[in-house]
Amino acid sequence: MRKKVVIANWKMNYDFHETTSFIRNFLKIVFEKEINHNKEIIVAPSFPFLHISNQISQGTTLNIAAQNIYQKDKGPYTGEVSASMLKSIGVQKVILGHSERREFFFEKNNVLLEKIKIALKYGLNIIFCVGESFLERSNDQQFEIIKDQLKKTVFDCSSDEIKSFYIAYEPIWAIGTGKTATFEQAQTMHEFIRSLFLERYGKRISNQIPILYGGSINDLNAKDLFYQKDIDGGLVGYSSMELKKFLKIVQS
Ligand code: PGA
Repeated sequence: MRKKVVIANWKMNYDFHETTSFIRNFLKIVFEKEINHNKEIIVAPSFPFLHISNQISQGTTLNIAAQNIYQKDKGPYTGEVSASMLKSIGVQKVILGHSERREFFFEKNNVLLEKIKIALKYGLNIIFCVGESFLERSNDQQFEIIKDQLKKTVFDCSSDEIKSFYIAYEPIWAIGTGKTATFEQAQTMHEFIRSLFLERYGKRISNQIPILYGGSINDLNAKDLFYQKDIDGGLVGYSSMELKKFLKIVQS
């Protein structure tokens, strides 16, 4: 059986104090109530707080992920952060391909593939996001869009490399809009994504790859989404910033 995974994507929101106090309070409750059983919980703070976050969660089951990396090893890229830097502070996971990176920072599939390769080189696990826009869904193009995004990025990886991935299906029209995909819409897409993995990598990998849903998950809709056969958890933005709500989502 696949493990359920819940990821908090805090984007550019929490400062030092908000980050550290959230993690401390979260860990306290999670351990007291033992709600981490058979789940993987990951939080993605901003770059300056990754080190301290990692230190606080050391020896617990909470994992820390970065929200981005640059696609080169090192060099004259002012303001950028490399995979090896993350590795050097013990961060083991990174989110790539988020629609906000694609939209506001113009990250195209070829750049995302470079980022994937450099992340793999340094042994990072990758939470890779795919998703269609509102217009694409209105034109019934969602399946071909997702297939194309995967084909040009993730599917370039070998069967061995693919073990480092989590896939997050995040319809762009559902991110930060309060408009969640229905569980039927999400399940249909997740089943489709799993079938693409079956075609590309075979049964074992397609059964194992965690496929998470993201886009306006909250404490009320999480259960219905996570109950679906091919939905292995969620990537949560807005609702991950309130401890009570996030705990409810984790418990779902
Ligand atoms: P949201 O964000 O939960 O606020 O819609 C999800 C995401 O961007 O990963």
